[in-house]
Amino acid sequence: MRVSIRGAAQVLLPPEDGLPYVRRAGDMRLEPGSVTIEDGVIIALEDDPGADRVIHLPGGAIVPGFVDCHTHLPFAGWRAEEYEQKVTGVPYEEISRRGGGIASSARALAAARDGDVLAQARAVRAEMLAHGTTTVEAKTGYGLSRDGELRAVRLAREIGDRVTGLFAHAIPEGHSAGSWMDEVDSLAAEAHVDALDIYVESVAFRNEDLERLGEIARREGVPLRAHVEQFNTNRSVPVALAAGARSVDHLACLHRKDLKPLAGAECAAVLLPGAEFLGAEELAPGRALADAGAICVLATDCNPGTSPVLSLPLIIGLAVRRYGWTAREALAACTHNAAWVLGYDDRGTIEVGKRADLVLLDSPVEHIAYRFGRNPVTEVITA
Ligand code: NIG
Ligand code: FE
Repeated sequence: MRVSIRGAAQVLLPPEDGLPYVRRAGDMRLEPGSVTIEDGVIIALEDDPGADRVIHLPGGAIVPGFVDCHTHLPFAGWRAEEYEQKVTGVPYEEISRRGGGIASSARALAAARDGDVLAQARAVRAEMLAHGTTTVEAKTGYGLSRDGELRAVRLAREIGDRVTGLFAHAIPEGHSAGSWMDEVDSLAAEAHVDALDIYVESVAFRNEDLERLGEIARREGVPLRAHVEQFNTNRSVPVALAAGARSVDHLACLHRKDLKPLAGAECAAVLLPGAEFLGAEELAPGRALADAGAICVLATDCNPGTSPVLSLPLIIGLAVRRYGWTAREALAACTHNAAWVLGYDDRGTIEVGKRADLVLLDSPVEHIAYRFGRNPVTEVITA
């Protein structure tokens, strides 16, 4: 079936075809136009009068399907009571001491049946789709035991388009960071995930564990990703860059000396403004990273603790306001550049020959952030 989306006020196009990612997102083009698709592929950047279905989009915009490259699906239940503690002044460490935090989600996951975990994750994914997200990464990390993590991989495969093994998320009871890294090493060999991830923080893993995960990722031939500089400055970015990381995620406490090397590297800066906002965290230097030419990326970080957020339009709104980004910069960050993080070159931009993952907006792209919190998506087309 051939579908023609006709007469949009704006079509978001890359600066040129065939780019793996975009460092200067201001060069993205916004032009009036039409897009025609057939059998899940973009076949023309013009109207086709003979199409089987015509969608008129006057005043609206066509953008690529959003790619959410950092979520913690699957998880069981939520942690609303912790959020209330947090906003009324209880520090994160104290919440953890009271049995909250990652350990609480690990207990909930262990107690839940597969079917219930999948039902919740599918409901979240359906809501994501309604907000324009057509590709989702899923992570393990709430298994917190060998068997638990293998189960999390299996569940994540049902939910995500890509599965990241966040085997090094928290140190399970009875383990040291080092002894759990031995388990991570064997899990990585056994689980065949699409990428490996680690949480480096005073309460979690160390830079030396990140270095070791880099070696494991190289051996397994998968990209290395890392949660770094979220609550403290641990100078993990140079370690991640030396290990050849595909992305460094969070960066709210990025050291100023690490900004330039990161911006010059082929490593994405994945910024998570939902976690920053809801956790009253520091703000990643989004404007400075974009100005320095970093491969900037946005994601929801959807998880029951720091960012129970699933809407990328909302994340775009936060990024535009808090980093001082343009709509183009924010959109490139959760389409083109996010697809690169996940190793996709068949999606993330509107080009002839790419997958027909398209989001139709009822208004120009600048309205996504301006009419904050509103969902401007009128239709989502997936290949
Ligand atoms: O990306 N920082 C570590 N991991 C998650 C939070 C996990 C949780 O609190 O459940 C994050 O923010
Ligand atoms: Fe995360």
